[in-house]
Amino acid sequence: MKFSRTILVTGGSGFIGSHLVCSLVDKHPDWRILNLDNLDYCCSSRSLESVEDRENYTFIRGDVCNSRLVNHIFNTEPVDAIFHLAAKTHVESSFQSPSSFHHVNVDGTKVLLGAAYRARHQPRRFIYVSTDEVYGASTDQVFDESSPMRPSNPYSATKAAAEFLVTSYWDKFKFPVIITRSNNIYGPRQYTEKVIPRFLSLLQMDKKCTIQGTLPISRHFLFVDDAIKAFLLLLEKGTVGEIYNVGTTCEIPIVQLARELVKMNVPDSEVTDWLEFVPDRPLVDLRYPIRCEKLLQLGWKAQVSWAEGIRQTVKWYQDNPDFWSDTRNAVCPCCVAPPPPPPPPLWPIRMRL
Ligand SMILES: NC(=O)c1ccc[n+]([C@@H]2O[C@H](COP(=O)([O-])OP(=O)(O)OC[C@H]3O[C@@H](n4cnc5c(N)ncnc54)[C@H](O)[C@@H]3O)[C@@H](O)[C@H]2O)c1
Repeated sequence: MKFSRTILVTGGSGFIGSHLVCSLVDKHPDWRILNLDNLDYCCSSRSLESVEDRENYTFIRGDVCNSRLVNHIFNTEPVDAIFHLAAKTHVESSFQSPSSFHHVNVDGTKVLLGAAYRARHQPRRFIYVSTDEVYGASTDQVFDESSPMRPSNPYSATKAAAEFLVTSYWDKFKFPVIITRSNNIYGPRQYTEKVIPRFLSLLQMDKKCTIQGTLPISRHFLFVDDAIKAFLLLLEKGTVGEIYNVGTTCEIPIVQLARELVKMNVPDSEVTDWLEFVPDRPLVDLRYPIRCEKLLQLGWKAQVSWAEGIRQTVKWYQDNPDFWSDTRNAVCPCCVAPPPPPPPPLWPIRMRL
């Protein structure tokens, strides 16, 4: 079959990447979707089961830092657009192994940009999926795309550094890049090291939700389907050389999040018994408020309410208690101090949905 477009997704086996790949494969049978991913500890091949036999989907197992491989892809495939998501993403691990984060997140981006820029078939879009964390924390200021970057942990510092590389290809060569900076994205299939699946996994094992520190930390949570819609809209309507915040007004204190998830399972009077406060990580940002007028002007709006998004997410973890069982104990291999692995067997969650 002749395809009208070829899209390369890096990190397409991860949480957001797998939702993006599934959406592209389903919505665009006439587009060829390539997924370049080295299957790091945080992903499961099951995330892409629904598309793996589809004619318009090709998986390339490999490292985005491998310049021979990446150059080969661009020399042999007519890649029209790139969504670059491959990254090391766990903030806590980034304190333990900053160089591995630098290698994948910065060097990997450099390799990909260079190969894409030199490709015979020049891509029309290079979309770099970055994060609100590049702004650093704020207690009162709401960040827009012109706010300065003040990353405060090794993960966000490498994402900011990669952004500078991406921007330099626009500034110097007018290579058609777009950068997205999104709030926390949540939903089905997220690996258990991130906050919502971590709380759900602990509760599944009748363990307490562990809350780091006593500071009033909160996060803005955007449901994954809404994030994917934003990325696809930017592919079609985004202006090259621009940065787009992808945000939500749904801000939830982490303690409240834990309470909400616990409440689904136990009477209100017992909720506090299921919370445990543990020492904080070295440096934690309190909140990342962003405004995303530029994206709203293109016609995007978050459509999934928190109530609906968390309902779908909890239901998915309830229906798939064994999904992460192969990798549940996996931690970033570069890190010395892994979090304690939750022991099997998994007991079903009994949440009221
Ligand atoms: N999850 C969020 O809340 C959030 C918010 C804003 C931005 N982002 C960004 O979105 C992107 C995806 O995040 P996610 O939550 O899906 O993370 P994830 O950890 O679930 O997925 C990352 C993917 O990258 C792959 N990968 C890692 N190193 C690689 C390498 N060297 N070569 C090829 N593939 C490699 C992994 O195997 C995995 O499939 C990241 O760039 C992240 O910075 C995430």
